[in-house]
Amino acid sequence: MTFADLWAELLPIGRDAATGGYQRFSWGDADLAARDWFTGQARVRDLDVHTDRNGNLWAWWGPPGPDAVVTGSHLDSVPDGGAFDGPLGIVSALAAVDRLRARGARPVRPVALAVFVEEEGARFGVPCLGSRLLTGAVPAARARDLRDADGVTWAAAMAAAGLDPDAIGADDALLGQAGAFVELHVEQGRALVHRDAPVGVASAIWPHGRWRLDFTGEANHAGTTQLTDRRDPMLTFANTVLSARKKARLAGALATIGKVVVEPGATNAIPSAVRAWLDARAPDEQTLDATTEEILRAAAERAARDGTAVRGTCESYTPAVEFASGLRDRISGRLGGVPVLPTGAGHDAAVLAARVPTAMLFVRNPTGVSHAPGEHASLADCLAGVDALADVLEDLACQP
Ligand code: HGY
Ligand code: MN
Ligand code: MN
Repeated sequence: MTFADLWAELLPIGRDAATGGYQRFSWGDADLAARDWFTGQARVRDLDVHTDRNGNLWAWWGPPGPDAVVTGSHLDSVPDGGAFDGPLGIVSALAAVDRLRARGARPVRPVALAVFVEEEGARFGVPCLGSRLLTGAVPAARARDLRDADGVTWAAAMAAAGLDPDAIGADDALLGQAGAFVELHVEQGRALVHRDAPVGVASAIWPHGRWRLDFTGEANHAGTTQLTDRRDPMLTFANTVLSARKKARLAGALATIGKVVVEPGATNAIPSAVRAWLDARAPDEQTLDATTEEILRAAAERAARDGTAVRGTCESYTPAVEFASGLRDRISGRLGGVPVLPTGAGHDAAVLAARVPTAMLFVRNPTGVSHAPGEHASLADCLAGVDALADVLEDLACQP
């Protein structure tokens, strides 16, 4: 089966016919169908598929063991996400195994293909939850109690998928088998377009985090409550959106509020609460911390003026990641000196980098759009990515 055949099989799963975007949320029907598809494709290749204690899938070429070379990514999406973010790394991993076999390459170390669950945090709020549980970066008890928008816990969703939520948590035995991790991913910008290169290697990931902001006030009638008598959390929220943008601009950081829930959500009532999620990223942790502190302080000051209240809670934080220079240089050398780029996007690779020598390959995205249906990579560039991944796996796993 060619890369294009594999891609065509996965493509319809979870796609919204109206927008062309994807709705693949952890443990939902589309996510389970995509996981089943991966399992089937791994079995066709005689790979031994296991679900780890945290719900991540591992397909082993050769018996599991130490010094394994692991590649993979994720199958879940953001709401109305693009086709490539995550799945490109999974399909490329399967195609790279085929490519290596066609070349007659024989691994002298185990090769594993990993599918990490809840990378986007779209359903339960914490991105890279599968890899964070694996490394112990998120405690099991906290993960079990995470809730989706309907109040379903991670534990209940896992159990409904036939897995044991009591078993989740740091898995040093499995992680200890990984000698290297390489994640291939669509580029989420246009740096490779500007460099005229189909493939690049990651140097670093900006530190980033998510903060939940709960603005609370007093619900009341839209037609009878004078402006001066209102305690309107929407007003405090609106000012916070504008001040986050300004503070990020002044600091050279990024701040985004892309998710908001208004309670009770009536056209003709002042809301009782506005719950919003701030995504903030910066070139270094000091700038990130200072910017988010300023945003939260400005929100509190504004709340005092509006007669409302605001509470900020950090739901996830990923420190700055500098990928292992030895592995990065080896890979870029093996690929003939491809561009080396930093990124502002988070990845399971950023989480695993704390424990395992880790690298990333990026595949050119002509639109530069990501987390939206416009995300793209040409077939020729995807095939260049598969070649690059196969070369890297051959170098890392097939040399004595
Ligand atoms: O949100 C991110 O940076 C990533 O795409 N999960
Ligand atoms: Mn993403
Ligand atoms: Mn991704």
